[in-house]
Amino acid sequence: MDFAKKNRIDLVVPGPELPLTLGICDKMKEAGIDCFGPDAYCAQLEGSKSFAKDVMAAAGVPTAACRVFDDLDKASGYVRQKGAPLVVKADGLASGKGVVVAQSVEEALAACEDMLGKGKFGAAGSRVVIEEMLPGEEVSLLCVCDGEEAWPLPSAQDHKAVFDGDNGPNTGGMGAYSPAPLLPDENLTEMAAKVAEPILREMKKRGHPFVGVLYAGLMIGPEGAKVLEYNARFGDPECQPLLMRLEGDLAALLKSCAQGRMDKNSVSFDKRSALGVVLAAEGYPGSYPKGMEISGLEQAEALDGVKVFHGGTKAENGKLVSSGGRVLCVTALGDTLGEARKQAYAALGKIEMPQSFNRTDIGGKGIARLARRQ
Ligand code: AMP
Ligand code: GLY
Repeated sequence: MDFAKKNRIDLVVPGPELPLTLGICDKMKEAGIDCFGPDAYCAQLEGSKSFAKDVMAAAGVPTAACRVFDDLDKASGYVRQKGAPLVVKADGLASGKGVVVAQSVEEALAACEDMLGKGKFGAAGSRVVIEEMLPGEEVSLLCVCDGEEAWPLPSAQDHKAVFDGDNGPNTGGMGAYSPAPLLPDENLTEMAAKVAEPILREMKKRGHPFVGVLYAGLMIGPEGAKVLEYNARFGDPECQPLLMRLEGDLAALLKSCAQGRMDKNSVSFDKRSALGVVLAAEGYPGSYPKGMEISGLEQAEALDGVKVFHGGTKAENGKLVSSGGRVLCVTALGDTLGEARKQAYAALGKIEMPQSFNRTDIGGKGIARLARRQ
C-alpha cells in the first residue's frame, strides 16, 4: 500500500494467492486505490477448501461429496469406512501440491498422516477435506467479475501432473492451451451460470461482492460438470495462452471491474488457438537447483506468434538465470491447436538451460478430441 501510494499507482492487480488471502485488496480499498482482486473474505474461496465447499453447498454448485476433518483418528476412520479411491486435500494453500488422489486406502491414510499427523503443509494441512474421486477430464473456466457479474473468458486446459501422460505428482501446472475443445465457446455462458454466477450471488449476500478472476477448476464427467476447486486469480499457466488471445485494453477491463462496472467492450479474443509449455527446473515440484543460465530467448521470440513469459528468472551479472521451479512459459499462437503446439515446441527448442525439463505432450488431449470429431 505504501509503494502504491508513493508511486501514485492507478490500478493494482495482485498476481498470487497469498497476498489476496492476506488482504491486499482490503488495504488498497482503504487507501482509495483501484484493485482488481477479491477481498480477504472472498479469497478464502481459494485459501480454504472447506470454506469453498460451504459456499458451493449454500450456492447450489455441483461438486464432489466431501467431509472435513481436523482429527487424524476420525479422518483415518472415515477413509477405512469409505474405501478407495478417495481424494485427500490440505485445507489451506499449498501451491497446488496439497492434493493426493489416492488409489488405495493405504495411500489415503498416508496422506492423512502426512497432513494431520506430521504437519507436512503446516497450518494449511491441519484440516483436511476428504472427497469422492470424480471421473472425467479437467478444464478451467476463468470469469472476470465486478462484484455483480461473472463474465466467462474462453476456456483453457491446464496440465497439472509433472510428467507426460499425466504421470507423477501434481504441480502448479506444466502447460496450458486455449480454447479447450472440451468446453467450446458456445457453452461458456451456460457453464458460468452454473459454476460462477451462484457464487457471486452468495458472496454478495454475505456482504462481500467478488471482484477479480473467479477461476473454476472443473471436472467434466458422466454427470456433467463439477467444481474441483476455485482459484481467486488468473491461473498460471492458463493466463499465458489466454492473454495471448486477448486483444484490446486489458487494463481498462480490469479497472472497470475494480470500480464495480465492468466494461466488456474494452477487449475481445483472437479466434486462433494459443498454447504454452512450461520449462521447469529438474526436481520440481520437489526441491530443485537455482541459478542456471538461460539462453536462446531472442531466437525463440523471433518465431512468428511466439512470446516467452518469465515465471522464475532473474538478472545476475548481466545474465539471465533461473530463480524458481517453473522458470519460463513458452507460448505461441496458431491457426489451429496443432499449429500453436508445433510453434511453441519449436520455440522451446531454441532455448537452453541446464538441469531443466518440460512435458512433451501439452495440448495432446485437445488435439485428440478434435481428431475424434472429424
Ligand atoms: P484442486 O487443487 O482441488 O484442483 O486439486 C488438484 C488436482 O487434483 C485437480 O486438478 C485434479 O487433477 C485432482 N483432483 C482434485 N479433486 C479431485 C476429485 N474429487 N476427483 C478427481 N481428481 C481430483
Ligand atoms: N494452474 C492452476 C493454478 O494457477 O493454480
